[in-house]
Amino acid sequence: MALCEVLNSFLFEYDTPRIVLIRSRKVGLVNRGCSSAFSWVFLWEKGYQETDSVVSSVTTKVKGVTLTNTSTLGARIWDVADYVIPPQGENTVFVMTNVILTLNQSQGHCPELPDDQTVCKVKSDCVPGYVSTHSSGIQTGECVPYNSSINTCQVLAWCPVEDDSHIPKPAFLREAENFTLLVKNNIWYRKFNFSKRNILPTINSTYLKNCIYDAQTDPFCPIFRLGKIVEAAGQDFQEMAVEGGVMALQINWDCNLDRAASHCVPKYSFRRLDNKDSAHTVSPGYNFRFAKYYRNRDGSESRTLIKAYGIRFDIIVFGKAGKFDVIPTMINIGSGLALFGVATVLCDIVVLYCMKKKYYYREKKYKYVEDHELGVGETYGTNS
Ligand SMILES: *[C@@H]1O[C@H](CO)[C@@H](O)[C@H](O)[C@H]1NC(C)=O
Repeated sequence: MALCEVLNSFLFEYDTPRIVLIRSRKVGLVNRGCSSAFSWVFLWEKGYQETDSVVSSVTTKVKGVTLTNTSTLGARIWDVADYVIPPQGENTVFVMTNVILTLNQSQGHCPELPDDQTVCKVKSDCVPGYVSTHSSGIQTGECVPYNSSINTCQVLAWCPVEDDSHIPKPAFLREAENFTLLVKNNIWYRKFNFSKRNILPTINSTYLKNCIYDAQTDPFCPIFRLGKIVEAAGQDFQEMAVEGGVMALQINWDCNLDRAASHCVPKYSFRRLDNKDSAHTVSPGYNFRFAKYYRNRDGSESRTLIKAYGIRFDIIVFGKAGKFDVIPTMINIGSGLALFGVATVLCDIVVLYCMKKKYYYREKKYKYVEDHELGVGETYGTNS
């Protein structure tokens, strides 16, 4: 009866006269707790509804043009085909905001970037065939001038090698803040055969041409200014544009299909997915490299190496729809009733078997009916 003792000490450490009150209050509390839990589950969590989770498809389109003017490139226009990489993706779109271009690379011999492994004074500092994960190429064993003051080991590589030690700041394509992203999202709730898209039936084409999403004034406009997405997540666009990052554009389609379909509308929210931790700034942001290849007149191959920094927008669609259905209603009422039953039984067990005054309660709970012993030979009624 160790369990009973524990229960006893927790619940009923009281003197005899008070126990009656306490007992009824405790039992009452448990019962009330059960019933309110049940009604909460049933009404708040819509226990009377069948639910389904969303199936969705997303397509995106970015718009915007910007002009840059640098000494190496001259005046240059950047349009969608230049800065959206790859041109189309699945639930995600990458917009290049900063770039390190290395023009006219070709295969050959050139000095490696200087760092503590590659700086050399004499030929014997360099090991032919040496290559590390940070190398631009394979060392030839020569020590050659990198610039007027430093010598580095020579490598066989795409030359000249990329120098990415200085990231352009402010970002090269800082105008990307004013680019727009159109998100088209179709959703489907299979169980209810309900489908809808985020360009609502109330939106006409003139509105769609001119609107920009705003949580207050235009909450259903599917066109987002990139700067606003980042701002809404509490980040600074120009800061994020320098080294890149990952943003989530969340579309929530929680719908109560017991109401009219026009009440089922998307809710947009934004957050930054790559944690920007100001105390720990090792390897921040998001970047990758790719190249464009050319064949020269003389048949030799050259390429432009592009190290692209930018913001990846992941479009995350989630949602749950509910609609009245008899079966979950019955199941939930059933389990609710069972909960009541279990509560009563548990309370009774504690009171009748564990408490010090259990005999007293047993007596009170069950009214014992005294049997009138039937005498031998006595019968009920009369024989006929
Ligand atoms: C974006 O557009 C606004 C309004 O047209 C302009 O004031 C702002 O300078 C632009 N942003 C950048 C980075 O040029």
